[in-house]
Amino acid sequence: MSSSTSTVYLVTGTNRGIGTHFRYIAASRPNAFVYAGVRDVSKAAALDELSKKHPGRISVVKCVSADVEGNAQLAKEIQARHGRVDTVIANAAVARVETTVLDTPAKELDEHFTVNVVGTAVLFQALHALLKASPSPRFIPISSASASIGGPMMPLPVRVATYGASKAALNYITRKIHFENEWLVAFPLAPGVVNTDSAKAAMANDTTGVFDSLREHITLQTPEEAAKALVDLIDRATREKEGGEFVDVDGGRIPW
Ligand SMILES: NC(=O)c1ccc[n+]([C@@H]2O[C@H](COP(=O)([O-])OP(=O)(O)OC[C@H]3O[C@@H](n4cnc5c(N)ncnc54)[C@H](OP(=O)(O)O)[C@@H]3O)[C@@H](O)[C@H]2O)c1
Repeated sequence: MSSSTSTVYLVTGTNRGIGTHFRYIAASRPNAFVYAGVRDVSKAAALDELSKKHPGRISVVKCVSADVEGNAQLAKEIQARHGRVDTVIANAAVARVETTVLDTPAKELDEHFTVNVVGTAVLFQALHALLKASPSPRFIPISSASASIGGPMMPLPVRVATYGASKAALNYITRKIHFENEWLVAFPLAPGVVNTDSAKAAMANDTTGVFDSLREHITLQTPEEAAKALVDLIDRATREKEGGEFVDVDGGRIPW
């Protein structure tokens, strides 16, 4: 293990969207090392370029959500190279926002829960020992305000039921992780509305007019702005302040 490495990050879902920019920011931190998780390493050409720009600072690794053996293999790789992981950002997710509960196919529900909930739990299981080896361990799943059962979005006719339900279950798992592991900083973190391809598709597919009516009330961040804000918040978060809370990107709290 390199003694000059300050923080070892693992971020999942770094192939596109907000995830792409997590790598830039983590790489810009002095001596930070980033494991950038992607589904298919052979299709991560942009990441390879970035690795060349920051030699010895970024490793593009295969990380498929809910793949128990694959996640365990990744943990072995990190163990051999760094012996610990300090900050895990569970960012990978499926987000299709197109249907009501009535017309959501069962397989679509399955996929959202497999990737967004089971995937995060499996990741935590695989990395538990490496997090425990860190002097300052953080496990931060990226959630969504649409998970809020008690918040203002719930009564709106936006078709987020499948996605929102999976993120609500993710919130439960994360809050439970917080209580089950008193040595860890863990909390679900919502990024706000971010102008990624997924978000654009969700807005384009919205026939209810809700997104249009909300447009003037929401700040649409770029993926780069969102990633910076999230990483800054994650880096200074403490168990006492943010631990087990449903945290918004602006540092506020979202109703469960
Ligand atoms: N954008 C927003 O406005 C917004 C709002 C609230 C919450 N969020 C949350 O913020 C996070 C990032 O959002 P985003 O908009 O950047 O998402 P995105 O553009 O849809 O990117 C999702 C990432 O997850 C990866 N992924 C999907 N399924 C996977 C699987 N089975 N195994 C491993 N990786 C998988 C994708 O990899 P591939 O490229 O291989 O498909 C991609 O890199 C997500 O957790 C999302 O729910 C976003």
